[in-house]
Amino acid sequence: MTENTNQAAVLPQIAVSIKSLNKTIGKRHILHDITFDAYCGEVFGFLGPNGAGKTTTIKMIVGLLSIDDGEISVCGNDVAKSFEKAMDNVGGIVENPEMYKQLTGLQNLRQYARMRTGVTEERIKEVVELVGLSNRINEKITKYSLGMRQRLGVAQAILHHPKVLILDEPTNGLDPAGIKELRDILKKLAHEEGVCVIVSSHLMSEMELMCDRVGVIANGSMLGVYSIEELLHASSGTSAEYLLETSDIAKTAELLSDYKTSVTVGEGVTVILDNTTAREEIAKINALIITSGLSLYACQRKEEKKSLEDVFIEMTHQEEGGGQIG
Ligand SMILES: Nc1ncnc2c1ncn2[C@@H]1O[C@H](COP(=O)(O)OP(=O)(O)O)[C@@H](O)[C@H]1O
Ligand SMILES: [Mg+2]
Repeated sequence: MTENTNQAAVLPQIAVSIKSLNKTIGKRHILHDITFDAYCGEVFGFLGPNGAGKTTTIKMIVGLLSIDDGEISVCGNDVAKSFEKAMDNVGGIVENPEMYKQLTGLQNLRQYARMRTGVTEERIKEVVELVGLSNRINEKITKYSLGMRQRLGVAQAILHHPKVLILDEPTNGLDPAGIKELRDILKKLAHEEGVCVIVSSHLMSEMELMCDRVGVIANGSMLGVYSIEELLHASSGTSAEYLLETSDIAKTAELLSDYKTSVTVGEGVTVILDNTTAREEIAKINALIITSGLSLYACQRKEEKKSLEDVFIEMTHQEEGGGQIG
């Protein structure tokens, strides 16, 4: 989500607001001044290595742990002062969702719906469809895969139309197909239904695919909140390298004497451009090569940017192998 200075633009609506949150358990100061906002309509990722403080923060948002210092509000309701109002707007899976194994998926949802006011049969049907369990909903939970149970957990958590859905490490243990299914559901909830979805993970690659913005947490401190684009941009360096394959490598290098180049025999000429003007420059270079009577077989941008994972390791000062990063 980008900052928008246009007055007419609709500002994002804050769903969860956390201000200077601290937590001490026993003698351990676990969270240090955590501050961030998460918006309606986005998937917000909480990213950090194991032990960073993700679960602790999430437990405080859903009221499983008390707030000793700082503020959390959900849709404008202070979690400490107006707990029930705040929780009316929250659905979550923090520990394994409570489910009765001997009941079917549908029976489980009905059981859960009894504890909530205003959940109709239509709503149950709607959430079952949303999580893609329509054709398996009359089977017992024992027959469900982990991915299906997780999706039933999501169905259960959103039965009461919460504006905020919070899932702690929801993809743990899922296979790639299960991860994709869950990811698509969470994105749909955020982008089409306007829910603020908050997920935590220690996996960079997953956050990149699932989230709109990511808050990076390490050792109980929030290091920063970034859009995925910002994270990628921060990691992309200042230069762009293109490999040009032409009919005459030596002549190409000569033609490009105004540029920084290197020649790799048998491959082509690599030209190094400033990232900010690379697109315009490479268009000029292509034209120059062709108008000089050479054949341009390929023009390829070299992928030399750091991976998001490297950026994450830098941010969290984790030695390779020191943190649990997948
Ligand atoms: N009940 C507790 N008592 C003492 N320390 C705890 C307790 N719960 C968590 N911690 C510590 O707080 C830190 C953050 O834990 P946690 O929030 O579970 O991290 P994450 O979910 O990011 O892996 C860890 O160092 C953990 O050992
Ligand atoms: Mg955790």
